[in-house]
Amino acid sequence: MTATPAVLRPHAEQAYAEELAALAKADDRPRPPGWKLSPWAVTQYVLGATLDDGTEITPKYVGARRIVEVAVATLATDRALLLLGVPGTAKTWLSEHLAAAIAGDSTLLVQGTAGTAEEAVRYGWNYARLLAEGPSEKALVPSPVMTAMAEGRLARVEELTRIPSDVQDALITILSEKTLPVPELGIEVQAQRGFNIIATANDRDRGVNDLSSALRRRFNTVVLPVPQTADDEVEIVTRRVAQLGRNLDLPEVPASLTEIRRVVTVFRELRNGITEDGRTKVKSPSGTLSTAEAISVITNGIALAAHFGDGVLRPTDVAAGISGAVVQDPVSDGVVWREYLETVVREREDWDDFYAACREASH
Ligand SMILES: Nc1ncnc2c1ncn2[C@@H]1O[C@H](COP(=O)(O)OP(=O)(O)OP(=O)(O)O)[C@@H](O)[C@H]1O
Ligand SMILES: [Mg+2]
Repeated sequence: MTATPAVLRPHAEQAYAEELAALAKADDRPRPPGWKLSPWAVTQYVLGATLDDGTEITPKYVGARRIVEVAVATLATDRALLLLGVPGTAKTWLSEHLAAAIAGDSTLLVQGTAGTAEEAVRYGWNYARLLAEGPSEKALVPSPVMTAMAEGRLARVEELTRIPSDVQDALITILSEKTLPVPELGIEVQAQRGFNIIATANDRDRGVNDLSSALRRRFNTVVLPVPQTADDEVEIVTRRVAQLGRNLDLPEVPASLTEIRRVVTVFRELRNGITEDGRTKVKSPSGTLSTAEAISVITNGIALAAHFGDGVLRPTDVAAGISGAVVQDPVSDGVVWREYLETVVREREDWDDFYAACREASH
């Protein structure tokens, strides 16, 4: 890791600079114009591999190879990529790593909100300069998309469906014409080879500002699924918790596999509305219980264990986090949670300590 030690969260291209450099060296396959790596090497970077020279490439995304291949292949065409899925399915995470591996830069980012204005997608003006000197290229403030076009890189648009439709429309021209005119200056920015857009959108937001069919046609959609099996999800959580702990410099607390498995099981059962053995139906609470929440419950538990516990992750360290994540609405979710505790958790063999900790934490 070569990131500046003081940075709280290095960008992917900083955190994994060594892996990217090793891949670039080993990569003898053809690279699309403007790409730092070949599509094959990008896929290795995302999914993990061991290079011939022994360099370990850590897996970033845990999931089906085909999904990553389709996403990478799309970016080599003139269509943009839309990563779609329920919350916590690594849409943002994958988009950052794809941009880091393909363009060497994941920072050209537009955060989509209801308040995202056209300037965030096209360009704005530095008004002090504009007033003092009149319109000039110096007074122009390019958006991340404009910069990506000019430099042949990838721009990322987060939460595309939250952006008001008229601002979304600005993207249609950019994606179909691959130019961005600046009528005030009588110039245009033509996209350099290597330019493309990776957008993410949440399944749950669909309908907020649904994509116009004109815009949707300019994207290839790749749906990121929730982890299929509990084992997959345990693997994701274990991996990410270890990485986060290193980044945060948390004192070493071995993340107990038992607790991770329990948290993942509880979240999956509540999410799916049925126990893993398929025997008991349970009610689902209102909040999202995604892999991302499981990661944060375990990470918080580790911090508790490190600073206030005995250095071992125990049920009492995760219990408060779990009930906090499950009980978003104190009344209705509280009922769901207590019912689940009494009917499922209590009956489970070897879960006594966990049951007691959760009961204690939800009072
Ligand atoms: N399949 C997976 N492989 C690796 N990490 C994963 C996977 N699924 C979830 N994660 C982890 O979950 C966390 C949340 O992911 P991320 O923020 O990218 O989700 P998202 O899909 O963008 O969610 P939202 O819709 O809320 O924006 C990340 O730390 C990511 O590493
Ligand atoms: Mg996201």
